[in-house]
Amino acid sequence: MKEKARAAKQEGRVLGLVPTMGALHAGHLALLQRARQECSPVFASIFLNPKQFAANEDLSRYPRPLEEDLAKLKAACVDGVFLPEALEMYPPGFSTYVHVERLSERLEGRSRPGHFRGVTTVVLKLLEIVQPNYAYFGRKDAQQAGMVQKMVRDLNVDTEIVLCPIVREEDGLAMSSRNVYLTEEERKAAVVLFRALKAAEEALHSGVLDTVRLQKAMRQVLDAEPRAKVDYAEVVDAETFEPVVQVGRRSYALLAVHVGSTRLIDNLLMESDGDGVRTVL
Ligand code: PAJ
Repeated sequence: MKEKARAAKQEGRVLGLVPTMGALHAGHLALLQRARQECSPVFASIFLNPKQFAANEDLSRYPRPLEEDLAKLKAACVDGVFLPEALEMYPPGFSTYVHVERLSERLEGRSRPGHFRGVTTVVLKLLEIVQPNYAYFGRKDAQQAGMVQKMVRDLNVDTEIVLCPIVREEDGLAMSSRNVYLTEEERKAAVVLFRALKAAEEALHSGVLDTVRLQKAMRQVLDAEPRAKVDYAEVVDAETFEPVVQVGRRSYALLAVHVGSTRLIDNLLMESDGDGVRTVL
């Protein structure tokens, strides 16, 4: 795959990369589809990156349906799959990490210490190995995408990061490889994240821009679901991920919620100009 990427680059073709951890679903496939519209060749990587899981997290139970994933990638007409071994990415003595100050310390970073250090380190390595012109990330993991964008800017990486929309199940639940952990009852309860974001959206469209009121609207919905335990429900600036008092030019309402033993995240993008607020779920 590396040789194929090098050769394509030398021929002046436009390379696209979609980094994943496998257990592919329609969210991943949408990234690939977008990449195929804009690039040729398109490469996907599947690497269940141990460095972004804390010791108490779900690395050992994370789904690994490799054969199915490869079949899906083939059906999606991907030109190459990068499937490195952990030892290839992290040989003995590996000791260099990427740390994005501030941005990586908030929200997901605070709840999952060390997680983002693992993400930025592996993403930089993948970008260095494949050297794509474009790399595709989902807005489902908005803070992750924001951090990768910041890293690429700060470290002069010659790849453009493309942010793609959230793909949802029919009832609104954001697709995630972790949704398979949910029991039937939890799966029903998990739609509460979407409903909370909808409540924020409704409040916004009725003219509420005040963060405290928006957060209250989301909390009210989340607190009414006994299976849900809120980690955070915040409104932040879409670039710095710092809290804002009022919805600004570009903000996110971000949720992290435990449903049973599964931690789910979701968000609402809010863009405001003189004419009003545009929301994207
Ligand atoms: P993974 O969870 O496999 O996700 C790979 C990419 O798919 C990420 O950019 C993620 O935001 C996107 N994605 C996941 N669910 C989505 C959905 N419902 N709609 C749209 N996009 C979605 O995120 C990771 O892997 C890893 O942290 C990685 C970036 C690969 C580094 O290890």
